[in-house]
This record gives sequence, structure tokens and C-alpha cells, in this order.
Amino acid sequence: MIKICFVCLGNICRSPMAEFIMKDLINDKEMSDKFLVESKATSNEEIGNSIYPLAKEKLVENNIKFDVNKKASQLTNEDYDRYDYIIGMEDSNVTSIKKIVNDVDNKVYRLLDFSNDPRDISDPWYTRDFETAYRDIAEGCNSLLEFILKNN
Ligand code: 4NP
Repeated sequence: MIKICFVCLGNICRSPMAEFIMKDLINDKEMSDKFLVESKATSNEEIGNSIYPLAKEKLVENNIKFDVNKKASQLTNEDYDRYDYIIGMEDSNVTSIKKIVNDVDNKVYRLLDFSNDPRDISDPWYTRDFETAYRDIAEGCNSLLEFILKNN
């Protein structure tokens, strides 16, 4: 079982989009029983809240199924052993993740570091550009899955 946790600041926009895009890619490969995919926040701002409506809209537009009961939760130090890959959306997430967990096994990565064009995924909460965020996350998930299938 390969266990992945996507992490962003609030766990209502980028990391839930990543969670459900990745589950869709894995489902298409009929490998759902080999993966655990979850998502969490670095902050406590949005704990208990649902996926943000504009993020949901992008998932619906792209025919990505998601859990309507998904609620934001915060990453804790105890989560470290639960996952093989802890994936931030941007450098600031990676910095915050490493303040929450002690990354002794080098499990913490930035999503688009797996792509051919390493970069941050800007926070659509602030940019309001959910289309770019969706495309960047989809690019990252495809690159990450390719990496995992080659390396695990
Ligand atoms: P996310 O976006 O990190 O992609 O979920 C955010 C959502 C809410 C907040 C920040 C970022 N907030 O501060 O409430």
C-alpha cells in the first residue's frame, strides 16, 4: 500500500483537488486497492469545513468524483508514520509541514517538483484563478503517479 497525503494551507482548495484528481487517476489504472490518498491542512483556519465551492466546481467540470462529506483537517506530528509521501503545494507549505513533522525519512515534497517544470502552485484562495490551480495540480498528480509507478 502506497500512502499519500496532499497538504496545503487550508485543506479546502488545492489539497482536496489533488486528493480527488489523484484518486481518479489511480481508479483509471484500476489500482485503488494499492493506494491510500488523503489531504490535510497546515493551518487550523478551515478545520471542519467542506471543499470550497469554486474548487468543487473545477472537479465537477472535469468529471472528477469527490466525497461530498470531505471536511478539512490539520496535519499533526502523529500523521508522519501514516504516509509515504507528504506533498505540499508550494514552498511555504513545505516549510510549514516541516515545522509540524520531523522529516527524518525525507517524505516531504513539493508537488510540481515531480514535473518537468518545478514550481509552486499559487493559492487560488488569493489569486482567484482556480483554472490555473486545477491544471497545475493535475500536471503534478500525473507526474507524481508516474514517479511512484516507476520507483515503488
Ligand atoms: P488552500 O486555500 O490552502 O488551497 O485550501 C486556502 C483556503 C483558505 C485559507 C487559506 C488558503 N484561509 O486562510 O482561510
